[in-house]
Amino acid sequence: MHRHDRKGEHLKAALKVPAGPLESGFDDVHLVPRCVPELSEAEVDSTIELFDKRLSFPVIINAMTGGTKETGEINRALAEVASSAGVGLAVGSQRIALESPEVSPTFRVVREVMPRGLVIANIGADCAVEEARRCVDMLEADALQIHLNAAQELAMKEGDRGFAGWLRSIEAVCSSLEVPVIAKEVGFGIDFSSASLLREAGVAAIDVGGAGGTNFVAIEDYRSPDGVNASLFSWGMSTVTSLVETRCAVDGTLPVIASGGVRSGLDVARAIALGAACVGMAGPLLKALSDGGQAALDAELDSICRGLLRVMILTGSRDIAALANAAVVVRGPSGAWLERRGFGRVLDEMARRR
Ligand SMILES: Cc1cc2nc3c(=O)[nH]c(=O)nc-3n(C[C@H](O)[C@H](O)[C@H](O)COP(=O)(O)O)c2cc1C
Repeated sequence: MHRHDRKGEHLKAALKVPAGPLESGFDDVHLVPRCVPELSEAEVDSTIELFDKRLSFPVIINAMTGGTKETGEINRALAEVASSAGVGLAVGSQRIALESPEVSPTFRVVREVMPRGLVIANIGADCAVEEARRCVDMLEADALQIHLNAAQELAMKEGDRGFAGWLRSIEAVCSSLEVPVIAKEVGFGIDFSSASLLREAGVAAIDVGGAGGTNFVAIEDYRSPDGVNASLFSWGMSTVTSLVETRCAVDGTLPVIASGGVRSGLDVARAIALGAACVGMAGPLLKALSDGGQAALDAELDSICRGLLRVMILTGSRDIAALANAAVVVRGPSGAWLERRGFGRVLDEMARRR
């Protein structure tokens, strides 16, 4: 199947296939309320700095698309909304534009709409240094996401079957490119050991892309049903467990981005308190755009950002640094997973913050 057709099928399937069945874990995460916030909304500062760019909210519209006329229009709409909200934007895999340079404008449109915004390029882990550089140059990107999608490739009838050499090629890209490189899962999560390997390979940030949101095994199965895929619908680890494991692995040396099933301003706040520098969101924003056009996408993002401000007030957090230090209790299946995996002390420390 041609890449153009596959991109179109992914978009359609992503709108039809429900999230899960694994939970993102955010419902296991409880921020401790401050009933005397001593703050008004006007005083709350939700800005962050990421990859030398200032964002109004700690949010990135995560990698989805580009490569066809229709997806170029989607990228334009995403960029216009990202620009007015002051959040970052990553494009979908640029492999298609490396193979067919005439479709580059469907990615490049993002930089045209966001001349000073945070724009992130995207390519798979099997790329050569020169290809990675072309992706960055295409957008004058501020950073490059390298997506790690072994589960998706295996689920895809026409997908790759060999995954040796990824760490070596990531290392080569990290040491050759001038922009920061983000290692990014696409919805199956990153554990402590994988995060440690990625850190050693030289990445500048990790997007944990955990399970609980968009599920690419289910999406591939929707495109071409296969009994093996159906048995792997619940493959992966949740965003919350990935976030805590990765945060412990990088130990403050790199920013960690939480994505996969982030669905509200409360989820954004929970992720920040657990150690994320910012969050990424994809599927629900695509759905809002598809259901109600740019106005609906704008409203969806606005509701997430206003939700975050509300939770910042309710935890007495004047800024994102304060929210990152808010007391947070992880219970339920996420708490049990993390205890069992040896992260109980970290959970205790976060729960006992004052
Ligand atoms: C239609 C669609 C296409 C996607 N394409 C890419 C891609 O090309 N590269 C990538 O790194 N991630 C891709 N993703 C994954 C998202 O960036 C994100 O990691 C994942 O959807 C989990 O976030 P969510 O639960 O908010 O959707 C895609 C997601 C969707 C919904």
